[in-house]
Amino acid sequence: MIEMQDVWKTYADGTHALRGISVKVDRNEFVYVVGPSGAGKSTFMKLMYREERPTKGSIFVNGFNLEKLRQRKIPYVRRNIGVIFQDYRLLPKLTVFENVAFAMEVIEAPKKIIRKRVMEVLELVRLQDKIHSLPTQLSGGEQQRVAIARAIVNNPSVIVADEPTGNLDPDTSWEIMKLMEEINFRGTTIVMATHNKEIVNTMRKRVLAIEQGQITRDEWRGDYGYED
Ligand SMILES: Nc1ncnc2c1ncn2[C@@H]1O[C@H](COP(=O)(O)OP(=O)(O)OP(=O)(O)O)[C@@H](O)[C@H]1O
Ligand SMILES: [Mg+2]
Repeated sequence: MIEMQDVWKTYADGTHALRGISVKVDRNEFVYVVGPSGAGKSTFMKLMYREERPTKGSIFVNGFNLEKLRQRKIPYVRRNIGVIFQDYRLLPKLTVFENVAFAMEVIEAPKKIIRKRVMEVLELVRLQDKIHSLPTQLSGGEQQRVAIARAIVNNPSVIVADEPTGNLDPDTSWEIMKLMEEINFRGTTIVMATHNKEIVNTMRKRVLAIEQGQITRDEWRGDYGYED
């Protein structure tokens, strides 16, 4: 489903962010990506959703080689990856409903289908009572739930989440994590970078550690493994 083969990433200023990453993530897995600040976690995630391109090596998502994608295939591959960020990144002038619907409008889904599907995902994240609210009228946890709804609305096979609980208090972080687990149970692969030791140690999923641009640990039912 996702495969990297000897992937290197050197940024324009010469920073070596990733040095020879090879990894496979299968359908339906839930993977935590851990490691010190600056280790290359976000770079690793960005390569998967094609925000950055590798300096060397190959990346496959659902069988497509991201470096050899034909232009017309790019929207298809993008649609198959939902992305969630630490800072939510909602459109501030749009309501909850509109923020989620927007992701379907850009792929030109029919209006009737949009309405039905948006309500369905907003129910899943338990925000059906807030559909007319603006992001500024929501708590951090609620904003992140909108971002999750937006990420899953087009039924992606993979969700890439970069520190989705980084700005949230412990209880809200747990709520978000349970939601991600539920989405995983429903059949979506999840790759999540996190610094949340307690959550990683309790959930016992696959743990991939990145240090100085290399994978230093890959464990099933792993633990966080750092003191911070
Ligand atoms: N656009 C960029 N240009 C140059 N260097 C960059 C760029 N983005 C990241 N880096 C550098 O690449 C390395 C890896 O950064 P990255 O953001 O992937 O780390 P991270 O593991 O996500 O860290 P954190 O836990 O703090 O989020 C760091 O040395 C960082 O300074
Ligand atoms: Mg990061």
